[in-house]
Amino acid sequence: ALGFAPAQAQGTYPTRTITVVVPFAAGGPTDTVARLVAESMSRDLGQTVVVENVGGAGGTLGAARVAQARPDGQTLLLHHIGMATAPTLYRRLSYDAVGAFAPIGLVTEVPMTVIARKDLPAKDLKELAALIRKETTGINYANAGIGAASHLCGLLLQKAVDAPMTTVPYRGTGPAMTDLISGTVDVMCDQTTNTTEQIRAGAVKVFAVTTPERLPSMPDVPTAAEAGLPGMEVTIWHGLYAPKGTDAAILERLSKALQTALRDPKVSQRFADLGTTPVAQERATPAAHASFWQADIAKWKPVIEAAGQYAD
Ligand code: MLT
Repeated sequence: ALGFAPAQAQGTYPTRTITVVVPFAAGGPTDTVARLVAESMSRDLGQTVVVENVGGAGGTLGAARVAQARPDGQTLLLHHIGMATAPTLYRRLSYDAVGAFAPIGLVTEVPMTVIARKDLPAKDLKELAALIRKETTGINYANAGIGAASHLCGLLLQKAVDAPMTTVPYRGTGPAMTDLISGTVDVMCDQTTNTTEQIRAGAVKVFAVTTPERLPSMPDVPTAAEAGLPGMEVTIWHGLYAPKGTDAAILERLSKALQTALRDPKVSQRFADLGTTPVAQERATPAAHASFWQADIAKWKPVIEAAGQYAD
């Protein structure tokens, strides 16, 4: 009997380290969500789960990496609303933006905040709007590339203000935040996961949240509508994906681990502190996320087509 391990134990997924690709730079909102969830999932899966940042092109470079990976459950993608906008925004991708992936589950919903470098001469959202209008193309807007959450929110802001801003693209809003704090760029709209602590520390100035109601995590900050710019409502979500062709049993196993992570008090407390909500576990399944994702693609399609700006 020497050298015989039970066949089942040998073949039971996962037997090796799993890589979760984050399609944005380290230190940003997607990275924060991924690292919290990956750490918790690794306990449930009994395997190391590492996060790899593959930033650039609004998340499409990292997504391409996973689209081309072997569908063996070893390489996953944690991406956001960009999964629903890229199919319409990007007309020349190296991969099939929908067909290349098998959803595992929805992860979070995250509000956004309109922020600026702390010495920008505007004390509220109306003054910011006036400044942008006055200095057309003089005010810089940081984003994480076309299709990034910060890009979508920037479109809403420019539409609400009815004036353009000069866009400064980054590989993620983690590095963009560093430049906003140092004053190299002027304005950004970013997820609370990345902005809450900087707002509390006074490192950046906050003008509004992009939700219909104020947030419990920053109750003094008005909604954009309250602050005088209606039409700026947007909530970002994150989802977990495997390459298409991954075995259904592996997807189910990962979905179960994701659900366990979403119930993990360490994860939910940290998320709550950052204004981020882990989704109810019934939404963290392959089937639920497949239909949510399809619906969100359909929701954003006319919005993007109306804007008429595409990435090539
Ligand atoms: C990031 O993780 O850097 C962000 O999610 C970028 C964005 O979409 O704005």
